[in-house]
Amino acid sequence: MRVAVVGAGVAGLSTALCVLEQCGPRAPALQLAVHAERLSPRTASDGAVGLWQPYALHGRGPQETLWNKETFEYLLGHVGSPEAEEMGLFLVSGYNLFKEPVPDPVWKDIVLGFRHLTPRELELFPGYSYGWFNTALMLEGRRYLPWLTKRLMQRGVKFFHQKVESFQELFDQGADVVINCTGVRAGDLQPDPALQPGRGQVIKVRAPWVKHFIITHDLESGIYNSPYIIPGEVTVLGGVNQLGNWSEENSAQDHRAIWESCCRLLPALQDAPIVEEWSGLRPVRPSVRLEREAVGPGRSEVPRQVIHNYGHGGFGITIHWGCAMAAARLCSNILQERLPLRAARL
Ligand SMILES: Cc1cc2nc3c(=O)[nH]c(=O)nc-3n(C[C@H](O)[C@H](O)[C@H](O)COP(=O)(O)OP(=O)(O)OC[C@H]3O[C@@H](n4cnc5c(N)ncnc54)[C@H](O)[C@@H]3O)c2cc1C
Ligand SMILES: *[C@@H]1O[C@H](CO)[C@@H](O)[C@H](O)[C@H]1NC(C)=O
Ligand SMILES: *[C@@H]1O[C@H](CO)[C@@H](O)[C@H](O)[C@H]1NC(C)=O
Repeated sequence: MRVAVVGAGVAGLSTALCVLEQCGPRAPALQLAVHAERLSPRTASDGAVGLWQPYALHGRGPQETLWNKETFEYLLGHVGSPEAEEMGLFLVSGYNLFKEPVPDPVWKDIVLGFRHLTPRELELFPGYSYGWFNTALMLEGRRYLPWLTKRLMQRGVKFFHQKVESFQELFDQGADVVINCTGVRAGDLQPDPALQPGRGQVIKVRAPWVKHFIITHDLESGIYNSPYIIPGEVTVLGGVNQLGNWSEENSAQDHRAIWESCCRLLPALQDAPIVEEWSGLRPVRPSVRLEREAVGPGRSEVPRQVIHNYGHGGFGITIHWGCAMAAARLCSNILQERLPLRAARL
């Protein structure tokens, strides 16, 4: 049985790992390959800050909340393990700030110690009158992607550095199942008008004295076009979310806006040395697409199967493991349906 995963971002690599873990024991002859135009460290996932936090205000459906929760629980279970450092995984606490009262987020019971800010805490952030504090997790893309890649290679997964022009070519090469984890470029393979880029730009600075994340939500500047500061190996300053913009170039204008707004939030940043600047595209979609699709009969009697797992917007790290497990379950179902067919043919 051959499974081809298209895409080597966090969605593709974690899905490949889940397929191995769920189907490997029952299908020892399983062959898994990852085909990707961009490999780590050149995917959007490598650049992602990696904070576990779903959207604060515009709540998504219960299914996505469940996948987010499964991811949090999985990561929390690993945070104390010897692997955590290499994975880029650690606990982090911090602030979400608002200029007016807002409803609690649907994920308040998933994170640890969610509470409202006290008046004394709010004094630290002039201009903000409402907020939350909680402990969440960081999973730094720049470390997690190499970790996933290494684990897959150790288990014999083959990587093909290539652009896939059509799923047909993978079926022609003998794939039984294709898993589509192509992020924002999925539309190249099969048009998806619901999918669009959400351009982001971040400045990475050396500021090891920043120990808490600070995420602002300035509603009048449009959703998610307000400053955030997130600590890690380097401290990340953001952020913008420009819908429909395909540019992966850093923009001087965005640089200025991010720098000025973050320094207003935390004036001590003025002297922090800049280490790197990065722009990437979020695969924005009203909801994640995670489903299987039969794409017409192939050479055999059974229709070819594609499993889609894309459209994770600005929370692809936050949701990745729940989605990967769901995609692997779909794959496992397909393999199970086929095993008797194979046996009958022998
Ligand atoms: C500035 C910024 C900050 C972010 N911060 C966070 C955060 O703190 N927390 C969080 O949860 N999320 C964050 N995100 C969102 C996160 O980066 C994305 O949701 C996630 O990376 C999407 O992963 P993916 O695997 O679907 O896509 P990608 O990482 O884009 O990977 C797509 C893969 O598909 C391949 N591909 C596409 N088309 C083809 C083709 N035709 N043939 C072959 N290969 C193909 C690509 O080459 C690539 O390997 C952030 C995003 C940005 C831009
Ligand atoms: C793969 O997913 C992308 C979205 O990422 C979609 O546009 C494309 O049509 C899918 N490809 C196929 C072959 O279904
Ligand atoms: C896209 O973003 C870049 C960088 O911010 C900017 O220079 C460009 O004008 C934008 N393009 C569109 C179509 O908005």
